[in-house]
Amino acid sequence: MLKSTGTLWVIGSYHNIYRVGSILQDLGYWILNDIVWVKRNPMPNFRGVRFTNAHETLLWAQKEAGAKYTFNYRAMKALNDDLQMRSDWFLPICTGKERLKEDGKKAHPTQKPEALLYRVLLATTEPGDVVLDPFFGTGTTGAMAKKLQRHFIGIELEPNYIRVARKRLESAMQLEFNAPVFVTPDPRKRQRVPFGTLVEQGFINPGDALFFGAEGQQKATVQADGSLVLNGRRGSIHAMARALRNGPANGWRAWYFRDDQSNSLQPIDMLRERYLNQISEL
Ligand SMILES: C[S@@+](CC[C@H](N)C(=O)[O-])C[C@H]1O[C@@H](n2cnc3c(N)ncnc32)[C@H](O)[C@@H]1O
Repeated sequence: MLKSTGTLWVIGSYHNIYRVGSILQDLGYWILNDIVWVKRNPMPNFRGVRFTNAHETLLWAQKEAGAKYTFNYRAMKALNDDLQMRSDWFLPICTGKERLKEDGKKAHPTQKPEALLYRVLLATTEPGDVVLDPFFGTGTTGAMAKKLQRHFIGIELEPNYIRVARKRLESAMQLEFNAPVFVTPDPRKRQRVPFGTLVEQGFINPGDALFFGAEGQQKATVQADGSLVLNGRRGSIHAMARALRNGPANGWRAWYFRDDQSNSLQPIDMLRERYLNQISEL
């Protein structure tokens, strides 16, 4: 079980996952996704009496349905060659150099693959978050948290596994923090800036013209309160854009201003960028 900012992950096979899911729901948790980890190289069914069990199920849940939570949609899409990440994850089980050994034997019977935890943490936590794994085993969660610049707390019952995990984590890679490497830009997460703030801050002035569309077909006048007036109608950048387009529209991309620096029409989104850059330098 692994807990991240606001949400919780559990993993299991058919032996336990239905019971765990039912208990979570009884406790009021809201299941956001069930992920099928399809093992590329599962252990065979040696006795040949059942199907080879080739997957485990991860449940991703939140305590309060509808509450805000972290989901790095863009990071997942980028990780998957620009295709939306689906709920079937094809990853090999932990083998080879990654598999920790003691005296030539596996140090832990169910050590999880690093790629699985890498994906879970990249998808649902941010750098600097604290991740709790109360069933730590060999510390795969901790090793991936360290690699991705997250903090972690691990709890483990067996002293032998604690020793193995400690040794592993001492040598686990920790890169110097460099935000662009660890954070995928996401326009949906940009700080909200009302258009009126740009008027207040002098990035655009009352009486200035804004143009609808890059060709500047229609001209509106900026009002002191941040609304626009065109052909006797008055409204916000979004409401006016919707009215002119007769459908959904994002005012930040629909309206253009005359940019003195480039002597061309530019989307007002550029002014918002300039404002955000200015305040981030303060
Ligand atoms: C599935 S393993 C975790 C494997 C781990 N993810 C890894 O990659 O090494 C579950 C671990 O939980 C530990 N465990 C079981 N019950 C526990 C408890 N009540 N408190 C703390 N640890 C417990 C077990 O000793 C075992 O190492």
